[in-house]
Amino acid sequence: MVKSLAPLFDLQNIARVLITGNGLAGQDILSVSQFDRETLSYIFGRAREMREMVKKIGGADLLKGYVLTCLFYEPSTRTSASFIAAMERLGGSVIPITQGVQFSSVSKGETLADTIRTLEQYSDVIVLRHPDIGSAQTAADYADIPIINAGDGTGEHPTQALLDLFTIREELGTVDGLKVAMVGDLRYGRTVHSLTKLLVQYDVSLRFVSPEILRMPMVIMNEIIDAGMDVRETHDVADVIENADVLYVTRVQKERFTDLAQYEEVKDQYEITPEIMEKAKDKMIVLHPLPRVGEIHYAVDHDPRAAYFRQVKNGMYIRMALLAGVLGKA
Ligand code: CP
Repeated sequence: MVKSLAPLFDLQNIARVLITGNGLAGQDILSVSQFDRETLSYIFGRAREMREMVKKIGGADLLKGYVLTCLFYEPSTRTSASFIAAMERLGGSVIPITQGVQFSSVSKGETLADTIRTLEQYSDVIVLRHPDIGSAQTAADYADIPIINAGDGTGEHPTQALLDLFTIREELGTVDGLKVAMVGDLRYGRTVHSLTKLLVQYDVSLRFVSPEILRMPMVIMNEIIDAGMDVRETHDVADVIENADVLYVTRVQKERFTDLAQYEEVKDQYEITPEIMEKAKDKMIVLHPLPRVGEIHYAVDHDPRAAYFRQVKNGMYIRMALLAGVLGKA
């Protein structure tokens, strides 16, 4: 186990509005710190309703006449597609700027502020992915319509964390009392940053498995320690596999490294294989925000404990609930 906690990284302090209960209407979604347990419970309830509705009738007209702009400055498959599917299943329309902002006026040098102030003229809500920490907050400062953070650099990915937590809840029936192990790139991984900050509200034990240079940022470690949670760090999956209820695996993100030699050193450090899964509990689940590039062997996909594609589907239900919420259709 790693003993000392090095100050690896500082996240920008995001100004945020706490959302309570069903009070999502008109709100930006910038950080998981906006959500208390009551709100999480409300969103999860709505997501379950969306799931039932999709199963029974495929979609509804709840957001008919509303327009979502998906503005993605970084690549995406799941977040962009699930927001589009969510909006369309609720009867709304989408302006998709997801195939590369190089085809928009961003390539002519337009600022984020002007792009946002333009797109809000056509839209009722904007989903933004951007490589810079704090970009969603910047967009929200300029926009009069809700901004949903779909990933701001190495900062946060709040809607991913909501779907992750929802998946844990649906798969295991509870969150309290669980041992959650996170594996891989904990330094740059915005999904693990957001999920950890959400889990601080629960009675869980955390186990962080990473190479030394990819440890969880100090600012998040401090939140965990201040909350009095049971947390340990290690470099080895073998230290956590037997006791974990949730194994949350992440990709080492090549695009975040300035020194590619460092990336080469750590990129293949972890691979979850059927042999490793043999040591895990019968009821544990394996999650991954995806895409994967070798961290989970394809043979693991056949294991019923591999929940990552069920997790993908939950993303659509959560995003349906969020879009309906921020557009005041609670
Ligand atoms: N989980 C996630 O953010 O995936 P995408 O990068 O494909 O959107």
